[in-house]
Amino acid sequence: MDLWLNSITRRAAVRSFSAFLAASPLLRAQQDPFRPHPRVPGLDELEDAFGFEDVAHAKLPRAAFDYTAYGTESEFTLRRNREAFAWVSLVPRSSTVALSEVKTSLELFGTQLSSPILISPTAAQIAIHPDGEAAMHQGATKAANTPMIVSNVASLPLAKIAEAATGPLWFQLYPKREAEANRSAMEDAINAGCKAIVVTVDQQASVFERALHDRNLGATGGPPRRSTRAAPGNPYRVEEMRIWYHWGLFDQIRKATKAPLIIKGVLTAEDANMAIERGADGIYVSNHGGRALDYSPSTLEVLPEIVDAVRRRVPVLFDSGIRRGEDILKALALGANAVCLGRVPRWGLGAYGAPGVQRVLEILRREFAAAMAATGRPTLASIDRGLVRTDFA
Ligand code: LAC
Repeated sequence: MDLWLNSITRRAAVRSFSAFLAASPLLRAQQDPFRPHPRVPGLDELEDAFGFEDVAHAKLPRAAFDYTAYGTESEFTLRRNREAFAWVSLVPRSSTVALSEVKTSLELFGTQLSSPILISPTAAQIAIHPDGEAAMHQGATKAANTPMIVSNVASLPLAKIAEAATGPLWFQLYPKREAEANRSAMEDAINAGCKAIVVTVDQQASVFERALHDRNLGATGGPPRRSTRAAPGNPYRVEEMRIWYHWGLFDQIRKATKAPLIIKGVLTAEDANMAIERGADGIYVSNHGGRALDYSPSTLEVLPEIVDAVRRRVPVLFDSGIRRGEDILKALALGANAVCLGRVPRWGLGAYGAPGVQRVLEILRREFAAAMAATGRPTLASIDRGLVRTDFA
């Protein structure tokens, strides 16, 4: 009957529950690891691309961050692109070379590159920074004139991007069904100063499932909702996007321009041969950063067979999964002439605008040069398959 005398007071109960929560590993696990930091780190405090990802994550609205991050459906290919780099070891020569001896420059389709790095075409950059592609171009230009491949679905007009900086620009084309639309898009790009055209051929009909979750969380923006309308001839209500491509479109495009044409989205030796036979000037090995067909192979795994088929007839570009200078070295050792970066400069842009793009590119250039020196490869020509041991699963 004197239970009330011994029972815990409300205040003590709240205090002890708060103490329990504060100490709980469960609660700590719920917290964004970034949140306890009292400030966003300065640009000069970041040492690798992953730091830029963290800052972009902290600064951007969730839907904008996720638009850069996600892959198709279960994101198997997105993960495999990264894992494949762990299945390739760098085997250094016993003698290193001095950093002052390392030479990374090359020429591709008349464009001079100070290192074998370009910016992959990626869409709608205003969603991650108010100056969008203009800032990307400025940052790239400041990073030793890194070429930028402008997306066909950029958020700024090409003229605005071109006038923002002086570095080299290429243009990416998503083929349309109408030949005239392709011809005029390429003509506009060349008139705006683009030096090469990258024709994307991967058959994308992606479902970005993270975006569906974001919508449930009330985030705004992101990709359009899936259509529920059954169009004629589409009984399964598939968002068709680009699963109607055929080689005839490339033939039309080839006839319509004299500019160098690079085919992006190649994942087999057969397609590489077909592309060269039909007049492609370059092969671009890509699975769209894991955003086209889920369960397609990682690009690093298919690169050697494509390089063997190409037999140096045309240059081979490579993307999907590069985060480090060592990754660039591995791709070059397996036969790529140059690599393209999509998410890495987007993290730079989202985190700090043009200076972030510049800095993150400089970090990868530095890591790449350091890896060349450490493995005793002073020139791009000296980077051969003997540099790597592959253990693809
Ligand atoms: C994407 C589209 C633009 O991957 O291809 O976001």
